[in-house]
Amino acid sequence: MATFPLEPFRIKVVERVLCPTREERESILAEAGYNLFNVPAGEVYVDLMTDSGTSAMSDNQWAGIMMGDESYAQARNFFALEEVIQQIFGFEHFMPTHQGRAAENILFTIGVNVGQYVPNNMHFDTTQANVAARGGKPKNLVVKEGLDPASHHPFKGNMDVERLELFIRSVGPENIPLGMITITNNAGGGQPVSMANIRATAQVYHRHSIPFFIDACRYGENCYFIQQREDGYANKSIREIANELFSYADGCTMSAKKDGLVNIGGFLAMNDPNVYRDACNELILCEGFPSYGGLAGRDIEAMARGLREGIDQEYLAYRIAHTRYLAERLQEEGIPIVEPPGGHAVYVDVKRLLPHIPQAELPGQALSVELYREAGIRRIELGAVAFAHKDPETGKMVYPALELLRLAIPRRVYTQTHLDYVVNALASIRDRRDKLRGLQITYEPAVLRHFTARYEPL
Ligand code: F0G
Repeated sequence: MATFPLEPFRIKVVERVLCPTREERESILAEAGYNLFNVPAGEVYVDLMTDSGTSAMSDNQWAGIMMGDESYAQARNFFALEEVIQQIFGFEHFMPTHQGRAAENILFTIGVNVGQYVPNNMHFDTTQANVAARGGKPKNLVVKEGLDPASHHPFKGNMDVERLELFIRSVGPENIPLGMITITNNAGGGQPVSMANIRATAQVYHRHSIPFFIDACRYGENCYFIQQREDGYANKSIREIANELFSYADGCTMSAKKDGLVNIGGFLAMNDPNVYRDACNELILCEGFPSYGGLAGRDIEAMARGLREGIDQEYLAYRIAHTRYLAERLQEEGIPIVEPPGGHAVYVDVKRLLPHIPQAELPGQALSVELYREAGIRRIELGAVAFAHKDPETGKMVYPALELLRLAIPRRVYTQTHLDYVVNALASIRDRRDKLRGLQITYEPAVLRHFTARYEPL
């Protein structure tokens, strides 16, 4: 039996949601070009598209919203955020940004030149696209267990440190302006990275004088996994673990829309004063003055408070148990998933569920469409649509090793009953899976095609 999570909160405000009828869902899908990004949110019953920006804020955060200081420069909320960032992350300098990719854009604009490489365990899609937009070349070097959905390695997000070393030698450290690691590894199943691996990764980068930046969106969940799974951390607080983890890096990009428990917000942090100065100039150009970086004072206050709540021990224990509950229930129903489940999401292993649909016919997207058709549930594909690309030399499509469908769980939003509803819907699809067919693309843009592509059933 799946162990069920105990919520360390009760519900004070509710939001009405209704499920459209089956006929309505069918016509909504056709109108949306079978792309769930085009489906109006009001027509979705359980929305597992993302855990990003979809959290329920606490009464404490809403109270903070009323404390917004909307002065243009040096508003008091900036100092509240500065104190929290000092306490948890400990970097010398930081600037708020409106979300994670704004921080990435600034970092890569000032740091990456055409033809240079940026290694990572695995870049998330927007990170990959932001590196590529500067003419840079993103390189993924996750350990091999990270690409095996059935492996039970406790830290499947780890960097393959040996391959990283070889890669740096083969392209030359002078062609790598910065190196990254993503915690948890979203593109690879929300899998954590161990402290030992972060330390080893930092050593490799620093031996070659390469600055090391952490993509920190889900650092709280990652720190919780370290506490639970890595020797020597069981008696340390999440904050102590975070302090050690970030001490190995030279900076981080952060989307606070995840473990910061806010609907909008992020930041870029670093130790190097020259990087800070260049980043400030870029920030002023595109986001705003360095004390508000594209956010209202009230949003900054909510972020400062959310960052504290996001590393609360009881909250994280509930959060990880909630995700694990969904994973265990799916496994009881024989739905193949990436094991063990990650922190923020459960990833259905589509290759094992729908082996009869080749990746060229987009099985992950087809399953995503079917789940909306079946039950009004929305979630996204991280497979052939999101990550396949044309090989510039052969002109042939190269498909990703993993074909996943992500059930991302918004924080503090859905109940156990909602999760059971999702399990039942997938179980009914499993019973008639042989009848499912793939999709073909009728329109796609040049980059990040999953957001706006249109499809038709085969
Ligand atoms: N890095 C990672 C690992 C992410 O998962 C995301 C966003 C970003 C950076 C960018 O942050 O959205 O605030 O600009 N991930 C969301 C998701 C969109 O659904 O996983 P952002």
